[in-house]
Amino acid sequence: MNVDNGYVDAPIEEGIDLKKEIVRLKQEKNAIILAHYYQRPEIQDIADFIGDSLALAQIAAESQADIIVMCGVQFMGETAKVLCPGKKVIVPDMSAGCSLADSCPADEFEKFVAGHPGYTVVSYVNTTAAVKAVTDIVVTSGNARKIIDSLPADEKIIFGPDRNLGNYINMQTGRNMLLWDGACHVHEQFSLEKISELRKQYPGAKVLVHPECRRQVQMVADKVGSTKVLLDYAVASDCDTFIVATESGILHEMVKKCPTKKFIPVPPEDGTCSCNECAYMKLVTLEKLYNSLKYELPLVEVDPEVAAKAVKPIKRMLELSK
Ligand code: 13P
Ligand code: SF4
Repeated sequence: MNVDNGYVDAPIEEGIDLKKEIVRLKQEKNAIILAHYYQRPEIQDIADFIGDSLALAQIAAESQADIIVMCGVQFMGETAKVLCPGKKVIVPDMSAGCSLADSCPADEFEKFVAGHPGYTVVSYVNTTAAVKAVTDIVVTSGNARKIIDSLPADEKIIFGPDRNLGNYINMQTGRNMLLWDGACHVHEQFSLEKISELRKQYPGAKVLVHPECRRQVQMVADKVGSTKVLLDYAVASDCDTFIVATESGILHEMVKKCPTKKFIPVPPEDGTCSCNECAYMKLVTLEKLYNSLKYELPLVEVDPEVAAKAVKPIKRMLELSK
């Protein structure tokens, strides 16, 4: 058995019912399985809770479990660990990174912040714990608008790392936040052209767009919002067809919640696939989840000094989102 590649590489007993064994191990060890909406359908189905970045942080913070298995990417595991330092937090494949978090190296961000004294630093949750450690308030796409609105109108704000979410909030609030120039490679792949083609094919369909998409894509949306906001919009809407410009994993829950409605994933700009997937999010499989529970590895570790600083802006976010 080794974890050299970021996950437990160990043989799985022949003929076992993986799903049953995952549930058994979870109960035996008092573990909770959390999954982001972008996870594979079979992972979403076995999770105790599925949600967007905000909900996953909230559930982790309140959990009574001894082990939190975060089926998502590294920064989600780090956020859970920072909030629950006494618990074992597992990400079944620790090589699940995030291009948006990678677009904001902590040392460069720290220099940027140091170069702008007097600014309040607001960081998107899609960042490393080290970036959160130099942040005043963390936000997610689900609460960014509400949190920015709660700050005095003349407050000078640095917002990082997503330039598209930052631009969107600037547009919505009339603020002039200073933006870090980062982005998510998945959401930047959505184009006006592909959405227009789909609109012609499905006249009357509503267009749902995640704020990590580029501005021109946000402009044609019927609804811009976090994965949860888009899901709730589809559930509440009278419309029966939706063109979805976010990672296609969300369609699983949309179809489950609205079995009579039609959801069309927007393909990436280069048009090589019919939907747009985050390869990092798809790294977690049932096999990796099973082995991670069995061996209680790989464990998320955050430097205690970094964690002590990072926990403050995360807790501030949780307070402000109540
Ligand atoms: P939300 O879950 O906040 O909508 O964010 C999407 C995302 O890209 C997570 O990695
Ligand atoms: Fe990161 Fe984008 Fe993947 Fe979300 S979809 S985890 S922001 S790379």
